[in-house]
Formats: sequence, C-alpha cells, structure tokens
Amino acid sequence: MSKDRMVTLTVDGLEISVPQGTKLLKACLDNGIYIPNLCYIDDMEHPPASCRLCLVEIEGRPDPLPSCSQKVEDGMVVHTETDAVRLLQKTAFRLLVSTNHGKCRLCMANKHCAMQQIAKFLHMPLRTKKLRYIPKDMPEVIEDHPCIVYEPNKCVLCGRCVYVCSRQNYDFALDFARRGFNTTISFFGSQEEGVGDYCRNCRACVDICPVGALNFKDERDAFLQDLQAKISA
Ligand code: SF4
Ligand code: SF4
Ligand code: FES
Repeated sequence: MSKDRMVTLTVDGLEISVPQGTKLLKACLDNGIYIPNLCYIDDMEHPPASCRLCLVEIEGRPDPLPSCSQKVEDGMVVHTETDAVRLLQKTAFRLLVSTNHGKCRLCMANKHCAMQQIAKFLHMPLRTKKLRYIPKDMPEVIEDHPCIVYEPNKCVLCGRCVYVCSRQNYDFALDFARRGFNTTISFFGSQEEGVGDYCRNCRACVDICPVGALNFKDERDAFLQDLQAKISA
C-alpha cells in the first residue's frame, strides 16, 4: 500500500489532506478533530471496531460507521457531531460504564483515564442513577498472575492489551476468556499450572490499558498505601 498519494476530504466543514490508506479516525485525530475511541491503536491494519464510540456519518452512506475501520477517500464528506452520532456514542458509553463502580479517586488511572475524557466530551457523568451499575459475577480484583492485577469491572474489553501482547510476545500471554457479559482478559492456566508463564513482564499491556484495569501489583500496593495514608491524615 503506497502512502505517498495525498487524499483530500472534508470533516465537519474543514478540508484536510492525509496520505492515501489512512484510517479516517487517525486522519481526524491527527488534524485536531477529536472523536471518542477506545479500541483503536495507531498501527492497526484491521481494527476490531468493538467499542462503537468512534462512529461518524459519511455522506452517501446510509448509516453511521466506525471511523477506525474506514479508509479515507478523495472527496469524502464526514460529519462527527450529528444527533445520530451522539445518540449512538452515548448508548455505547452507557454500556461500557455499566460495570464500573465510578469511584475514580480509588483508581490508579484517575485523571488520565480514557473513560473520564470521553465522559467529559459527551457531557455524561461516569455514574448516575440513570446509568445502572451491573458488576460482573466475579471478584473485583483478580490476582492470579504473579506480578499483574486485573480488575474486570473496570475493563472495557477494548482488546488493546491482547493486541500489544500478541505483537510483542508471539506466545500470546493473555487473551479474552469467557463469553458474553462475563467476558474477561485472562493470563491462562491456574495458580498450580503457572498463570502468566508465557508473560515476559514487559508491561506493554499495563501501559496500553486506557482505563487502569491492568496494573503491576507492587505499584498498585504502593498506590493504595499512599491513598490510605492520605485518607487517615
Ligand atoms: S506484560 Fe507483556 S508479555 Fe506479559 S501479558 Fe502484558 S504485554 Fe504480554
Ligand atoms: S484490560 Fe485494559 S486494555 Fe485490556 S481489554 Fe480491558 S480495558 Fe482494554
Ligand atoms: S475506536 Fe472505533 S470502534 Fe472502537
């Protein structure tokens, strides 16, 4: 795929030019047009388009489409702020936060969490009576990996951790597990069989998680101790 030829399109009335083959979401973000997104990583050839937050309307297409999986086209006219787009984004957001207890102060990702940024952008609270809290039927914190803790109710199942691990660690040290509402991330095995045996502790998954659902145990312990000290002071 040649990325040399430039393609010109219009987004929210602004004309932008980007290399041919660029994903529409990246074209917008690179040109200062923010579109909420969770499951996209810059170099993805085939994005999963699973979070359904990056929807836009493209003139000539009947329904809103995820911008992360659309390639730019010459003359494309895109709208990122229509009522239909916002309605769908807000619905997707509600579903994503339904398992989150919303106690941001107690979370290591506080103030740099993607869900906080998206909530602000959509003018939506992270938790109200309208947004039902439906925790998953599993522990709040899963600590079977020797070094990494996983909090399934914070996890938005964006798959970024699975993607970076498979790119860096071809043994696939973590992947999706279970089904439906109880889908989680798993490091495989059991304590006896050696959970995380394939993991190189490279921390790529921890660093790429947009919501603080994966953390190193020692860092989380230090954070919680610090928090406790502040509360007791
Ligand atoms: S720390 Fe690295 S190797 Fe281990 S699960 Fe995370 S990304 Fe994969
Ligand atoms: S643990 Fe984090 S990066 Fe992995 S799927 Fe959940 S939210 Fe995404
Ligand atoms: S970023 Fe496009 S669907 Fe998630």
